[in-house]
Amino acid sequence: MLTPKKLLIVFSLAVISICCGLAQPTGPSIKRQPFGITKDNKPVDIYTLRNANGVEARISNYGGIVVSLIVPDRHGNFGDVVLGYDTLDEYVKANPYFGCLVGRYANRIAKGRFMLSGKEYQLATNNGPNHLHGGVVGFDKVVWQAKPLVTPHGPTLELQYVSKDGEEGYPGTLGVKVVYLLSDDNTLRLDFTAQTNKKTIVNLTAHSYFNLAGKGDILAHELMINADRFTPVDETLIPTGELRSVKGTPFDFTQPRSVGARINADDEQIKFGKGYDHNWVINKPDGKLGLMARVFEPNSGREMEVWSTEPGVQFYSGNFLDGTLTGKGGWVYQFRNGLALEPQHYPDSPNKPQFPSVVLNTGQTYHNTIIYKFFVR
Ligand code: BGC
Repeated sequence: MLTPKKLLIVFSLAVISICCGLAQPTGPSIKRQPFGITKDNKPVDIYTLRNANGVEARISNYGGIVVSLIVPDRHGNFGDVVLGYDTLDEYVKANPYFGCLVGRYANRIAKGRFMLSGKEYQLATNNGPNHLHGGVVGFDKVVWQAKPLVTPHGPTLELQYVSKDGEEGYPGTLGVKVVYLLSDDNTLRLDFTAQTNKKTIVNLTAHSYFNLAGKGDILAHELMINADRFTPVDETLIPTGELRSVKGTPFDFTQPRSVGARINADDEQIKFGKGYDHNWVINKPDGKLGLMARVFEPNSGREMEVWSTEPGVQFYSGNFLDGTLTGKGGWVYQFRNGLALEPQHYPDSPNKPQFPSVVLNTGQTYHNTIIYKFFVR
């Protein structure tokens, strides 16, 4: 029986919980806010996607960057699990690919050179002697046309970009569409499609640096990679062409192991990467959606699975972070404070005929799906 006194208590609790932001999360939503203006005066927005559980992804149409991704820990405390900046200006100034979309070619192409239909193409060499992540102005540094929508599956943000024939040295005008979807099973999904008007090469990915603890280094994160083989590299991080067994090496993540357990091993491949910065050959057919990797952070209990249709995953343990960048909320990003798991085709595929092909012909549609799914344990 609700006496007037009990009613008053219930009412007061409701008011307190609303005021303190403790109210039950409302339904899925997406909201747009201005994020700033680029150097060439293009206005940029930031979109907040929210699901029914209160999970929230803030995504900008500058580089398609996931600026923050807020998920619960095992006690229901929400926290940000990706590295990044508070402002657009900081992303424009110096972004080591935090959270962005990467293209046209994610990862490296040796000396920026490749042959296609008997013609040699020369791309920018923006990473020592090699081409990295699409060149000087890759898809991470352009403003995408954005369309927010709430669908029955959850809030979506559709991003489109047309990359002109010859942009960054690549052949063909490439129309690219990426759809972000945040669904109620705490999944952030990306669906990429692309079409060209001239034979070209494409390898798109997403580049969030994760830290499931939301602080410190990622060495205690426990990682499983669904791969029996990886692609060893030379000292400039270009694959030698071999698919090498991970058995008995620091690259064996077939069973969950902490990232830190063997990261400083006396191993030539580890030395070349300054830690992990390699591509694993996923145990599944190319083009089929499958589990690539699972990461668990024991303190918070947060766990993330990465699924994709791509044949490989680059696991990068944040070895180039060195304390020179200060991110959101004043966090100084030190050595190995974040890890990236980038589903993709293998590095330097245009020069490795034995690797799955990255060629896109006219009349074909390129597809790639990447899924990050969050759990607690
Ligand atoms: C690469 C690293 C590179 C990083 C850029 C990763 O995808 O594998 O070598 O330093 O991106 O921040």
